[in-house]
Amino acid sequence: MHSAELTSAQRGTREPADYREPVDPIEINAGAYYLRALRADDRLDDRPRIVEGFTDPVFRDWSPGFTITDLTAAGQYVEHRAEQWADETRLSWAIAEPTTGLLLGEVGLKRLDLTAGTADASVWLHPDSRGKGIATECLGAIIRFGFGALDLREVYYRHAPGNDASAAIAERLGFTRNGTENHLVHWFKSA
Ligand SMILES: CC(C)(COP(=O)(O)OP(=O)(O)OC[C@H]1O[C@@H](n2cnc3c(N)ncnc32)[C@H](O)[C@@H]1OP(=O)(O)O)[C@@H](O)C(=O)NCCC(=O)NCCS
Repeated sequence: MHSAELTSAQRGTREPADYREPVDPIEINAGAYYLRALRADDRLDDRPRIVEGFTDPVFRDWSPGFTITDLTAAGQYVEHRAEQWADETRLSWAIAEPTTGLLLGEVGLKRLDLTAGTADASVWLHPDSRGKGIATECLGAIIRFGFGALDLREVYYRHAPGNDASAAIAERLGFTRNGTENHLVHWFKSA
């Protein structure tokens, strides 16, 4: 994947042709926040904040397919996101408060297709982190990463009709609305 090439390039080193670097999640600075892998370890445990986020009524209204109500399920979610980094199907970042590392939400590039150069943008915020511009700032940062570092040519964004907060993010980030299909409002942004 490009990220493997990237990390070699970033280090300025050359690897043998058959060398395959582990695809470690890349950290990104996003203005006042930093984006890192989700964690469930002794130093940083995102699981309680994930449970709070996923059991929030607003989240449940707009993302009804996701159910995480306890720490065990949250731990499996963190593991699943790590597997998706490894198999390059989805790159997911925890939005972290810079001094404490506290999880404020999650942004991601899902349905990642590096050959086609496409991905879907995704975001949710913990209820105490909404209304502050965090989603716009952090989603903007990973979209720039997608275009700049992964050579994506198009990023899509979809949300349920009536999810005005999501539509506002798409507009702020310069997405173009592309109608409604399969009960979802579709947006796209080209590189
Ligand atoms: C969708 C969701 C991530 C949007 O969060 P959000 O807080 O509205 O988005 P932002 O962090 O970009 O904040 C934007 C708001 O903060 C305000 N704001 C404050 N400071 C700001 C700043 N420096 N820059 C931009 N906006 C700022 C804006 O005015 C805006 O408020 P408005 O929408 O009333 O105009 C959030 O509502 C959420 O997690 N919802 C539940 C899950 C969900 O719907 N996920 C999406 C499924 S597709």
